[in-house]
Amino acid sequence: MSVKDDSRRKFLNIGAATAATVATTLISFPTVAKELTATTKQQEGPFFPRHKQADKNADMTTIDKQSGQAEGEVLHLNGRVLDTQGNPVKGAIIDIWQADKNGRYLHDDAPESSPLDPNFQYWAQLKTDADGKYQVKTIKPGAYPAVKGWVRPPHIHFKVARRGLQELTTQMYFAQEPLNDIDKLFLQTPENERSNIVVDFHNGKGQFDIVLNRIS
Ligand SMILES: [Fe+2]
Repeated sequence: MSVKDDSRRKFLNIGAATAATVATTLISFPTVAKELTATTKQQEGPFFPRHKQADKNADMTTIDKQSGQAEGEVLHLNGRVLDTQGNPVKGAIIDIWQADKNGRYLHDDAPESSPLDPNFQYWAQLKTDADGKYQVKTIKPGAYPAVKGWVRPPHIHFKVARRGLQELTTQMYFAQEPLNDIDKLFLQTPENERSNIVVDFHNGKGQFDIVLNRIS
């Protein structure tokens, strides 16, 4: 999901127009940008990291001081954190945690369904830059059984916090995953908000923008 800057697009579109047309355009279109919809909340789930971790950087496919590479399809995910007015949120702290390729979490309560991947950094903690941007290199997580008869689709957990804005916990899903359509948590999301938490990756690259409500 990427948030399009409608006001900027309109401004660029009118750049080539005559002054008269500009005047008409400004009259025809409101100058105040439409408010963005805050990203849909999702449950934190039981596997938020509990223990300190030395390496929490933006490359989850390796562990500092180790030469190995995490198993799985490498993904480059980037995005922006914005408020509902479309302003970039600088200095937001983003916790990202997820299962490895085999659907295993690094957590005391996680089922030991498969061995841990010794080269996967299960948790990253990032900070947005002056433009509200973040990026992370990771791998596509595996699906995993939640309870009997319910397999969670691949997803990545996000928690985003910044003073003055409402903290957001959510989950990011992958487009074209059949398990999305039968996932209890995904289906709890109102239909018109689902696209806000689904990312369509192309050649391993995807964009996930996050919109936070301001605390009024
Ligand atoms: Fe999960």
